[in-house]
Amino acid sequence: MAQWCANVGVDMQIYFIAALLSLQVELHVHLDGAIRIKTIIEVAKWREITLPAGSEDEMKDLCKMHEPGTLTEFLGKFNHYMHAIAGDREAIKRIAYEFVETKAKEGVIYVEARYSPHLLANKGVDPLHWNQKPGDITPDDVVDLVNQGFKEGEKAFKTKVRSILCCLSHMPNWSMDVVELCKKYSKDGVVGIDLAGDESMDCVSYPGHKRAFEEAVRSEVHRTVHAGEVGHAGVVREAVEVLKAERIGHGYHTLEDQALYKQLLQQNMHFEMCPISSRLTGACDPDFTKHPLITFMKDKANYSLNTDDPTIFDSTLNSDYQVVQKYMDFTEEEFKRLNINAAKSCFLPAEEKEELLEQLSKAYGMLKSTGF
Ligand SMILES: *[C@@H]1O[C@H](CO)[C@@H](O)[C@H](O)[C@H]1NC(C)=O
Ligand SMILES: *[C@@H]1O[C@H](CO)[C@@H](O)[C@H](O)[C@H]1NC(C)=O
Ligand SMILES: [Zn+2]
Repeated sequence: MAQWCANVGVDMQIYFIAALLSLQVELHVHLDGAIRIKTIIEVAKWREITLPAGSEDEMKDLCKMHEPGTLTEFLGKFNHYMHAIAGDREAIKRIAYEFVETKAKEGVIYVEARYSPHLLANKGVDPLHWNQKPGDITPDDVVDLVNQGFKEGEKAFKTKVRSILCCLSHMPNWSMDVVELCKKYSKDGVVGIDLAGDESMDCVSYPGHKRAFEEAVRSEVHRTVHAGEVGHAGVVREAVEVLKAERIGHGYHTLEDQALYKQLLQQNMHFEMCPISSRLTGACDPDFTKHPLITFMKDKANYSLNTDDPTIFDSTLNSDYQVVQKYMDFTEEEFKRLNINAAKSCFLPAEEKEELLEQLSKAYGMLKSTGF
């Protein structure tokens, strides 16, 4: 299985699917896990910031997960480069702009990118991450800068992009800030709130997060929560019942509680699935042919396919599509169905969602009345 990526590129049938599905929707990708290594190196040079490796190849090698590891190991990868980007206006704008370019090249027409404004700021954040020097960029400035980059990118590359702002599980005292930013920018690029971080700490229902998500419900801010990735099904239940999540990030371990799984199928809960990520973070069995996603697919669950952190998994959305086609027998119909479900479950306002669905239906050559 370690060789899974070696021969996917030469499979003709896969090319066919990739070409067919040049219009995709992605709902779960971290902006700070999707930065070009080349950009990290250039920014570090101009800011005179030291990186743990000199060349692009060495840096790439250091930042990527080679073999299935743990979520903690994965989270450690950010320590190699976030200090180069965080706290710099040009760098923050640039990674946002380049993100749109990357997604446009992958054939994504609509993407929801997520990030923690606090992790890219260097003012008004306690404690500061990445051993940065304090500066003058607040989390609010970060959202503004990312918005600028996204807007310029959208204009240049035609891929529509919106943001989800992340609370971090181990920083419950940032969460109220995060929901306030979601409210402030709700007409300007931000469509939802997320809870990310190390789920194994069991902090989904910490009062800080709970209060923030209650405020999100009150203010009609859309909600997604990382749950059931490495954590148990109980975390998924808490995400739905306590935090009122409308979508679940990952959710693989929901299957361990069949009653909950059935209930969520009935409720049409949307699951943001990230196959390559789940293998490399050790969230799932490294053998793709035993992946929980196969069950979700067979049960016609409501889910999308996503990259999560392409820099660290050295992947593209197309590699995730190739994996499920090669190892999980995904059909063309299923690719269409899951993208339509992604569009239906996105956090855009109703009218824009309708437009997106129309674009997809047209592209997939089907009438809107076919029951998708
Ligand atoms: C927020 O929580 C962190 C970690 O528990 C702590 O170090 C910091 O002092 C707290 N900040 C505030 C403003 O309470
Ligand atoms: C997925 O969720 C969306 C949004 O609630 C809904 O419109 C769609 O019908 C759902 N799909 C399935 C297969 O449940
Ligand atoms: Zn994630």
